[in-house]
Amino acid sequence: MASNPKPSNVVMVLNGPNLNLLGTREPEIYGSATLDDIAGMLEDRARELGLEVDVRQSNHEGHLIDWLHEANADGARAVLLNAGAYTHTSIALLDAIKAIAVPVIEVHLSDPTNREPFRHISYVGMAAADEVKGLGPQSYVVALEKAALL
Ligand code: DQA
Repeated sequence: MASNPKPSNVVMVLNGPNLNLLGTREPEIYGSATLDDIAGMLEDRARELGLEVDVRQSNHEGHLIDWLHEANADGARAVLLNAGAYTHTSIALLDAIKAIAVPVIEVHLSDPTNREPFRHISYVGMAAADEVKGLGPQSYVVALEKAALL
């Protein structure tokens, strides 16, 4: 697909299934920060970088796909995508990323490649422009910093 013609300063931050439960969900893996905490960290860093973040979460695959299309239609600068378990299953997300001009940066709190074998495949990673994983909430901040350089 063609390159993103007129990127805005908006970075869409899409979070997939079960990430609404961050803070209480398997804290030994994902830590104690909630998604709201992460959104706050991103808003602070975005302000410093002259960017704006639009943080969303859905447990439904189709919502994530609709939002990728929306980011593209609106000329977002980039999408940070933590697709949760859909990372490892969703050819539909792979196709959506391939269909849009907006660069997508894959984000994970944990490092899926150091976990169960079924997490080693990433359909998102097959089309993503970049990835940041294994840094906890800081993965999102580093991904935002990468988006600022796009
Ligand atoms: C995750 C890793 C995925 O394997 C898992 O299904 C998640 C969270 C992460 O951020 O580490 O839901 O994307």
